[in-house]
Amino acid sequence: MGVQISPSILSADFAILAAETQRVAGAADWLHVDVMDYHFVPNLTLGLPVVESLLKHTNTPIDCHLMIDDPDRWAPAYAEAGAASVTFHVEAAKDPRAVAKDLRAAGARAGAALKPGTSIDDYIDLLPHIDMLLVMTVEPGFGGQAFMADMMPKVRRARELVIAGDLELWIQVDGGVAPLTIEQCAEAGADVFVAGSAVFGASDPAHACSSLRSQAHAATAASWWAGQ
Ligand code: DX5
Ligand code: ZN
Repeated sequence: MGVQISPSILSADFAILAAETQRVAGAADWLHVDVMDYHFVPNLTLGLPVVESLLKHTNTPIDCHLMIDDPDRWAPAYAEAGAASVTFHVEAAKDPRAVAKDLRAAGARAGAALKPGTSIDDYIDLLPHIDMLLVMTVEPGFGGQAFMADMMPKVRRARELVIAGDLELWIQVDGGVAPLTIEQCAEAGADVFVAGSAVFGASDPAHACSSLRSQAHAATAASWWAGQ
């Protein structure tokens, strides 16, 4: 699939979300929508009604990042509403494999997210059952935080597992992804890049997407995993 850019609307103006999505139309592969419930993370954003409304106002596929408790119960509704990709946190799920199965059955790509302190090696058996692994590069909860470069070995390990298992699995990074950090993410093995403040904090969000994409392409071409 190659490099994909998923701007996070967490850094957009929530009062005019439909208009904000238009600013990246054609330049973004996805719209990354951060759902937070004040329980799994100490912040509250938006939920299913807003996702349902957004779906009516954009042609860009929606990449829901659920930072919520009990995704076993709540995640499938986002897929049923029409989100093309739904990612839940493994730390919050009682049965991650069952959640992934439910998401796929509802027609979405199933993503599983790892907080910075969560080891990928505890979830190797889950990887064949999901479509995307999200390696968080900040503690989930807020935009604009500093990028955690010490997550790069986890991204590299994920890419090694994808290659070794010949898996159809995208590797997403989220948190602090910006012009200064996107290349090391791509070099390590990521192929889906979430960027909030680096896109919606820019004067021209579409140009910011294109520029990040070019950087990621070049870094991927020069990476250890290129062509594998
Ligand atoms: C944080 C969210 C991110 C956030 C990233 O918990 O999951 O998607 O919007 O924002 P930046 O790119 O500003 O770090
Ligand atoms: Zn996110």
